[in-house]
Amino acid sequence: MAKKFNTLDVAGTPVYVGQGVFGELQEHLSSKLATKEVIFLLADENTLEHCYPQLIAMVPELEKANKIIIKPGEENKTLATCEKLWNQMAVEGANRQSLLINLGGGVICDLGGFAASVFHRGMPYINIPTSLMAMIDASLGGKTGVDLYSLKNQIGLFSKPAGVYVWPGFLTTLPHRQMLSGFAEMMKHALIGDAGFWKKLTKIPMAVVTNWEDHILTAIKIKSKIVNLDPNEKGIRRQLNFGHTIGHAFETYSLRNDASPLTHGEAVAMGMICEAYISYRTLGFNHMERDEVVKNILLNFSHYKIPSIAIDELVEITHYDKKNRKGRLMMTLIRNIGDAVDGQQCELALVRESLFRYIDFSRHVPRE
Ligand SMILES: NC(=O)c1ccc[n+]([C@@H]2O[C@H](COP(=O)([O-])OP(=O)(O)OC[C@H]3O[C@@H](n4cnc5c(N)ncnc54)[C@H](O)[C@@H]3O)[C@@H](O)[C@H]2O)c1
Repeated sequence: MAKKFNTLDVAGTPVYVGQGVFGELQEHLSSKLATKEVIFLLADENTLEHCYPQLIAMVPELEKANKIIIKPGEENKTLATCEKLWNQMAVEGANRQSLLINLGGGVICDLGGFAASVFHRGMPYINIPTSLMAMIDASLGGKTGVDLYSLKNQIGLFSKPAGVYVWPGFLTTLPHRQMLSGFAEMMKHALIGDAGFWKKLTKIPMAVVTNWEDHILTAIKIKSKIVNLDPNEKGIRRQLNFGHTIGHAFETYSLRNDASPLTHGEAVAMGMICEAYISYRTLGFNHMERDEVVKNILLNFSHYKIPSIAIDELVEITHYDKKNRKGRLMMTLIRNIGDAVDGQQCELALVRESLFRYIDFSRHVPRE
């Protein structure tokens, strides 16, 4: 296989991006195979159907890996699913020298990373992200974990993967709605760290974008620049949470109330609309740029409709946000496009105001 890929360092983990990444994976696996360590491959039913055959065609050695298959979806990112993994790994002879390969989107990477990291007090794992969300965000930087009932990512730990192999070819089978979900995080990366990238991502709808590999590489570079400065999220890494305080509230609300809940990215996109408004109200974020952000989000994402009586519940959910300090709501906001500021205290009244404005935005945002 031609050695055609880029190598980046994200918080001490080698991240390989491009067409030839699986040659590198084969090299990594050779030592495990030589010592006959048990290799597990975690996938969900969709990535088993769509991605596993492509992976095996490029890395035939993995055909012998012990497969662990779980049901797809955020609702399965739970401790109960981890228990099934731990049981299967124990029965099939896993130990601290075994390896878990996570083949899937953010749910597989988050859950598999967590399950491996606490099994026998730490078993190595590798991420092979198959969704855009996982390629540019969830597989990188060592945040692993599961949800606690409807509350997102409440149980988890920082734990580095041994390597991340990003092969954009998997995106050809990713459903459009899931592609959009990753695109929201890509927009967020641009908004917090790279105004030039924001220009490249906007004005045209995502459906006509073709240069995905370049975009993925740029997005990973933005994330790695931030994560390398602050791997354990004590400060600047919180910038990656722009849109997520209110985004997680939308996501939790939707999981509780909708038959077909919002994806993580759709929720973050709606959260960014509100947090761009809060940035305008507290940090002087220019109102024209604010409208540009809202307009470009709504170019790709449908406005998620909430009744005004839902606002109390959404505000209540923000109390559980992990960034809060001493009962105070803390957020990342943007001063300008490409320039984020973390650790901004936000009054609940302003969150409420932003949600009322959000309900109005679908009507009031200027269209070109
Ligand atoms: N750890 C982090 O730093 C971090 C960052 C961002 C998001 N996340 C987490 O990531 C999760 C969301 O990730 P996601 O959007 O990838 O969701 P996901 O893992 O649920 O994947 C979305 C859907 O696409 C399917 N799929 C994935 N790749 C496919 C492919 N190539 N072809 C066909 N189907 C495919 C999956 O089976 C699933 O049904 C959330 O749980 C979020 O909290 C974590």
